[in-house]
Amino acid sequence: MTESASPGPCHFVIFGATGNLAQVKLFPALYHLERAGRLNEDLLFVAIGRRPWDDSRWREHLEEAVRAAAGEAVDETALQRFADRFEYLRGDLNEPATYTELFEVLSRPRMGSCENIVFYLAIRPDDFLPVVNNLDRVGLNRGHGRHRIVVEKPFGRDLESARELNRELHQHFDEEQVFRIDHYLGKETVQNLLVFRLANTLIEPLWNRNFVDHVQITVAEDIGIEDRAGYFDRTGTLRDMVQNHLLQLLASVAMEPPATMDANDRRDEKVKVLRSIRPIPVSRAGDFAVRGQYVAGEGNGARMAAYRDENDVPDSSVTETYVALKLYIDNWRWRGVPFYLRTGKRLARKQSIIAIRFRQPPQQLFRTAIQERIRSNWIYLSLQPDEWMQMELRAKQPGLELETRTVRLNTGFREEGETSLDAYETLLLDVIEGDASLFIRFDEVEESWKVVAPLMEAWSQDSRSLRVYPAGTWGPEEATLLFDSPAHVWRKNLRG
Ligand SMILES: NC(=O)c1ccc[n+]([C@@H]2O[C@H](COP(=O)([O-])OP(=O)(O)OC[C@H]3O[C@@H](n4cnc5c(N)ncnc54)[C@H](OP(=O)(O)O)[C@@H]3O)[C@@H](O)[C@H]2O)c1
Repeated sequence: MTESASPGPCHFVIFGATGNLAQVKLFPALYHLERAGRLNEDLLFVAIGRRPWDDSRWREHLEEAVRAAAGEAVDETALQRFADRFEYLRGDLNEPATYTELFEVLSRPRMGSCENIVFYLAIRPDDFLPVVNNLDRVGLNRGHGRHRIVVEKPFGRDLESARELNRELHQHFDEEQVFRIDHYLGKETVQNLLVFRLANTLIEPLWNRNFVDHVQITVAEDIGIEDRAGYFDRTGTLRDMVQNHLLQLLASVAMEPPATMDANDRRDEKVKVLRSIRPIPVSRAGDFAVRGQYVAGEGNGARMAAYRDENDVPDSSVTETYVALKLYIDNWRWRGVPFYLRTGKRLARKQSIIAIRFRQPPQQLFRTAIQERIRSNWIYLSLQPDEWMQMELRAKQPGLELETRTVRLNTGFREEGETSLDAYETLLLDVIEGDASLFIRFDEVEESWKVVAPLMEAWSQDSRSLRVYPAGTWGPEEATLLFDSPAHVWRKNLRG
């Protein structure tokens, strides 16, 4: 079952092929890889769904998904070549017959003699185990080929359930075969973090407690829960976003330079960061974190319903749709530097940023307007909706006086004409090529659950700590109380 350098897979099996993730992310990304000539000629897909579709209905669905994402720019030849690679297999995940049939499909002459397989679980986490058990039953996790299994977040509901899920998974697949996806790691800006720091002598010497005042990480969504109440109301923002995406972003900002760019060296450094996060005492959860839920509000001129009025959400739900927290990393590089994290649904704008504020110079030598005096140098990395970087520096204001003001050096990471990649394109290609650097190793999952565990415990005992915020705003006012200094404010946009 061991993994080593490719040859890549020749079979790519997608469970949950009729679901939202497959439609919105996987198929468009795979089509782009097809168009870019990055899929091996002999790579074949098996799409598994329970809908009673024949091949032409399946093909219609697939093409619609790609066209919706590609818009006008679809390359018909590439799309037809891509669609020709697919076989649709109708089957229930819980039915052993589905796997017997899958085994037969993969053994057909059309599929050739290559045995390397990727299994992509684009399904609810509760369905992961029935699938891996059944794959084992028909021997599809074994054989001469290399088998990889891709699992989506969230990995477990807490530390214990994640360990249990992992134990079960490891009965059938080795850790190096398991690719736990956190699609934030596939974003260009996140990958750029290491390059930005380690390929620029200008930056790395400043990247520590001696020069950095604090770090802010914001992942703001303007959408609500859409039709995912069943999943979201049981999960909440802490589990859905903080335990994975936000802590991965924090680890990517704070990690030490790895010994090499090898997957395990990089992940070793992220684990060290997660392990160094100072535990939040359950009894003081309120000093370190704020959670909120949106009530009715307005955005883009439209009325937006309260979370509790969304379809299928119970009237008495205390599930959080917003979390802000303050963490400290107790290590040599970051001791004493607050990391402020926040994320929520139905916020004022879709925006994901990492903002790093530097310390003030030791002495104010120049005349500066009062409101400008608190302004420091910032580095501001935007992940979405656009990927770019901004550095804020002080410069002399034109004129007779020696006064200063903020100037902004702003750049995209892309030259004109260079296309933007979706994170899933990067990650799917990595799966195909067997590169696990941008995937989460289990010890990272464990350490992340440990970070959020005290908050889960505190909040399960105290529903009064749930704050409210009107939809379309930046979240509960109380989030500003987390700041260590009156000079700290949430960065909302490029100017302030
Ligand atoms: N959607 C996203 O943007 C997103 C983002 C990040 C992570 N994820 C993760 O990705 C995974 C999938 O999410 P999703 O949004 O795509 O969910 P979804 O839209 O509910 O899709 C679930 C898929 O599983 C299939 N399925 C469910 N029960 C089945 C059964 N008994 N037999 C056969 N097929 C069955 C569904 O088939 P039917 O179509 O017949 O119902 C559907 O294809 C989840 O782990 C989620 O947390 C999703």
